[in-house]
Amino acid sequence: GYIKELRGTKDLERKLAKVLGVEVHIVPQGPNYNQSKCELGRFSAEFLTELVGPKDIIAVTGGTTLATVAKMMTPLKKKLDVNVVPGRGGLGEQVEIQANTIAAKIANKLGGEYHLLHIPDNLKADTISQLVIEPSIKHILDLAKSADILVHGVGTAQVMAKRRKMSTSKIKKLEEKGAVGESFGYYFNQAGQIVYSTASVGLKLSDLVKIKKVIAIAGGEYKAEAILAAVSDKYQDVLITDEEAANKILNLV
Ligand code: BG6
Repeated sequence: GYIKELRGTKDLERKLAKVLGVEVHIVPQGPNYNQSKCELGRFSAEFLTELVGPKDIIAVTGGTTLATVAKMMTPLKKKLDVNVVPGRGGLGEQVEIQANTIAAKIANKLGGEYHLLHIPDNLKADTISQLVIEPSIKHILDLAKSADILVHGVGTAQVMAKRRKMSTSKIKKLEEKGAVGESFGYYFNQAGQIVYSTASVGLKLSDLVKIKKVIAIAGGEYKAEAILAAVSDKYQDVLITDEEAANKILNLV
């Protein structure tokens, strides 16, 4: 509303929406990075709460941003009976920021069930093909594929590769391929092309077209290039970001 017009964030939203081709929401810059992140989480939690309907299936990724969203979400008095599933298994995150943990938290706040994918990262291709036909796992993967809403984070290729304990030689290869952004295991170059993907069970980028609302949440100036690489009308419908990232992205284009 008024504050956004005053600060010019409404104008920023319009400009960025034009660049990326998706609906954009920008939270105003906070006094420091941590407070901006909390505000991003709070706004996103509210946005998601308003969007979900009874019995919706929500798929989520991991990450510190999504963990903040789950934390900032206010428990609903009138429970919604949703199903919350991790978008992809494993990905080598610590338990606090794993998609599983975030799915459980969000389901508890909105009311409903969560489903967990206990699958390690970087499995051999034939192990993966065996796992995905296991009935209990297939059930969860089917739920994720039929999600009404997908909420995911975006990271820089550098940070995500390190967090996932990629070897130095693999990180070097990623750099050579020009990877700048990452989103649920996919690494993108500046042109938005996929240059590498983590072997993991779960949603594929090609599954995203069938999901009604795909929402990317990422902020911070350092993520500008990553957001520009990973977010477009090809995959997402909505981007929720902050003023710092938005300004930087517009400087890059
Ligand atoms: C991962 C998600 O868990 O978190 C990725 O699978 C995302 O999609 C990443 O890029 C973002 O992490 P953070 O901590 O920057 O929110």
